[in-house]
Amino acid sequence: MCKGHNVVNDVHGVSASSGREILPAHVKPAHYYLTLEPNLETFQYDGEVTIDLDVVEDTKSISLNTLDLQIHSTKVSSDGHVIASSPVVSYDEDQQVTTIKLNDSLKAGTKVQLVHKFTGELNNNMAGFYRSSYKTKDGKTKHMATTQMEPTDARRAFPCFDEPALKSKFTITLIADKNMTCLSNMDVVSEKDVDGKYGKGKKAVTFRETPLMSTYLLAFIVGELNYIETKAFRLPVRVYAPPDQDIEHGRFSLELAAKTLEFYEKTFDSEFPLPKMDMVAIPDFSAGAMENWGLITYRVVDLMMDEASSGAAKKERVAEVVQHELAHQWFGNLVTMDFWEGLWLNEGFATWMSWYSCNVFYPEWKVWESYVVDNLQSALSLDSLRSSHPIEVPVKKASDINQIFDAISYSKGSCVLRMVSKYLGEDVFMEGIRRYLKKHAFGNTQTGDLWAALADASGKDVESVMAIWTKQIGYPVVTVTEDAKKGAITVKQNRYLRTNDVKPEEDKALFPVFLGLRTKDGVQEDLTLSEREQSFPVKDLDFFKLNADHSSIYRTLYTPERLEKLGQAAKDGLLTTEDRAGMIADAGALAASGHQGTDGMLSLLKGFNSESEFVVWNEILTRVATIRSAWIFEDEAIRKAINKFRLDLVQDKAHELGWSFSDSDGHILQQFKPLIFNNAGQAGDEKVVKAAFDMFNKFREGERNAIHPNLRGAVYAIVLKNGGKAEYDAVLNEFRTAPTSDERNDALRSLGHATDPELVQRTLALPLSDEVKGQDVYLPIAALRGSSASIEALWTWFTENWDAIVKRLPPGLSMLSTVVQLCTSGFTHADHVEKIEKFFASKSTKGFDQSLAQSLDSIRAKSKWTERDGDDVRKWLKSNGYLE
Ligand code: BES
Ligand code: ZN
Repeated sequence: MCKGHNVVNDVHGVSASSGREILPAHVKPAHYYLTLEPNLETFQYDGEVTIDLDVVEDTKSISLNTLDLQIHSTKVSSDGHVIASSPVVSYDEDQQVTTIKLNDSLKAGTKVQLVHKFTGELNNNMAGFYRSSYKTKDGKTKHMATTQMEPTDARRAFPCFDEPALKSKFTITLIADKNMTCLSNMDVVSEKDVDGKYGKGKKAVTFRETPLMSTYLLAFIVGELNYIETKAFRLPVRVYAPPDQDIEHGRFSLELAAKTLEFYEKTFDSEFPLPKMDMVAIPDFSAGAMENWGLITYRVVDLMMDEASSGAAKKERVAEVVQHELAHQWFGNLVTMDFWEGLWLNEGFATWMSWYSCNVFYPEWKVWESYVVDNLQSALSLDSLRSSHPIEVPVKKASDINQIFDAISYSKGSCVLRMVSKYLGEDVFMEGIRRYLKKHAFGNTQTGDLWAALADASGKDVESVMAIWTKQIGYPVVTVTEDAKKGAITVKQNRYLRTNDVKPEEDKALFPVFLGLRTKDGVQEDLTLSEREQSFPVKDLDFFKLNADHSSIYRTLYTPERLEKLGQAAKDGLLTTEDRAGMIADAGALAASGHQGTDGMLSLLKGFNSESEFVVWNEILTRVATIRSAWIFEDEAIRKAINKFRLDLVQDKAHELGWSFSDSDGHILQQFKPLIFNNAGQAGDEKVVKAAFDMFNKFREGERNAIHPNLRGAVYAIVLKNGGKAEYDAVLNEFRTAPTSDERNDALRSLGHATDPELVQRTLALPLSDEVKGQDVYLPIAALRGSSASIEALWTWFTENWDAIVKRLPPGLSMLSTVVQLCTSGFTHADHVEKIEKFFASKSTKGFDQSLAQSLDSIRAKSKWTERDGDDVRKWLKSNGYLE
């Protein structure tokens, strides 16, 4: 079933059938013996790799991936005799391929050994084998060496066949000072005293041979680390952190990991095949976490949590990340996509699975309800842009791969799985997953293999229903009309674009749409719209709603009258929480795109002031925020009126819920209160603003628990928005001195709420300063999107500092995409689009062209929206008393 590497092509470069840049298939790695000695003073490392190769086809050359490595010697031998001791070696920089030319042909069916001696730099870019720093209690900067290989940076650490389908075994040896902790995917089998390249009296730590695995999942770490361990799981589970961390803050993740591993073994009916599980907090980390097999690495804040100083949302995030990376140990690590266009199999599944297990461990968190306002909306939002991409997208170059770690692979991918799991039933779905894992353990797969396993378990032709969802870009908007006489509804599907300018050729695909028709009699699960347009009988047209619980991927466009009735149905208790939240999201999106009037949407929102559920409020306020940000460059009077509307929506709720916390407050209430408090405060509710200042002032006087962790972000935002230099300095000081990373990040993230031009400039001085780590560059700029002046200032900063930004965040890192997106997407007008396009016209957009295109599309959509509905919004605000 698996292709990928086995595509025949004669030289390295472009494969004949797929256009992928992959290595030639002449030889295949079977076993790597890799020894590395990092020098934590000079940031050099010394390496030697011996690779056992199977010759698959006769060949006179061997090609493998390398990047930024200095290869000092190369030797090829067979059965102990040398074939080539210093052969001609060439390098293709564009393809990141080193090729060794041989005089004689290697014969298919034989085995050869390739030995490279090399050195590399422990770089400062969070990729490959890199350095990470932390400060000791007495202010000294110390370093550790660690790795980040996914997607294509193993080649930066050592010469290798760096493709996911080229699974191999690995025996790793690390040479380090004796006081260092050395970790890798496996446990230690031997430790010897040696003299190293960089000094005498060292230790050589050799790890057990790995099972067959892909290069992107390798990891090795050398550093001074503390750990805690639990024996709650069959195998040892540990959390490691550098000494600047209180290791006890890893306790929550540690216990959760042990429980989750046990649960996954049972659920997947598949034993975790490695001897241990280590999870390590890394002070410099480009992503949130990385699922390296048996050695998961994390950003500090995504692993370590002080329950006393972190709120409920933080706890949920840590649980999500831990469970996501653990899910990968099976889905991704044991069974791996054959090439990167199958990335969604990894990320979509790990996302779905983390929700599934979170729901098992913490049913009171009701995470599937938040799924509708979280992953579902992220997916629908990104996929409403012309510049989106299909879930299975051909990726050719290494620089394209980083860009698909996005809401399509993660969120839309998981939505597809949620849809199929509902379609088959969760138990049948899980049986299919077990069969898939069993059949492909230690191997590679394509999407079709997953559909086949699900078909096998269910007896249904899963592929014919699901394939289109992963192969086609976008999703439909389903227009519903009613025929009272016939007692029927007619539904019609069309491609949905936020810019509402679908061309006929973009509207060809017909999706099998699971209609999920809800009536007073329950949900009709088996209705599928498989054509352009179909009619379905509905017994009682008094009440119906499509897409029950929003388990399918589409937006529903009702008539204005029906939408009003649904608003009433929500009040009458006829809709589930997911239905209410999803319906508001659909109405909001369809207003933004011009499929519906914005006034109808505003009326719908206004009617929800008696809503009781957190996630519904969350969606309501998200939609208000969407309007606010689209109108951010419009007249002040209108903006003030929108704000008044927002205040009117939340004011009573804010006073009803209050802003104090007790031990009996559930997990959801702990997030509900800050959501409403924050919105009321930002909209200017006097009591809330005063409460925020009271807390903040006590806090400044040293009463650290005067601000509850759940409210920290909201209090900072409110006092910065309404205060001045004194408040700014106090929050900045928190960023500099607070004891945990979570507290420091909250402070850094808030500074952009200060709108005084001088303070904005001080905020803009932070991202590229030494005070802010490269991994955190995006933190201080995110909040600068709250006012038109700040958006302009941010853009000016961005254009003036472009070279420095690229230097700090090279295009290979996904963070450059994030920064480009943050600095451009606040704009709302067509001439803004021009300005941005002009700036980039003369620059390479390699590594972020996708997110730039998406940002520009989203500006175009906002520009059209405000032009189209500006008058209607004004009228609505006026007739509802928010505008004079
Ligand atoms: N495999 C990814 C990490 C990754 C991301 C590697 C981008 C290379 C490029 C990991 O499993 C992941 O998805 N991490 C997420 C956290 C998760 C809870 C969504 C992250 O880093 O944010
Ligand atoms: Zn992942």
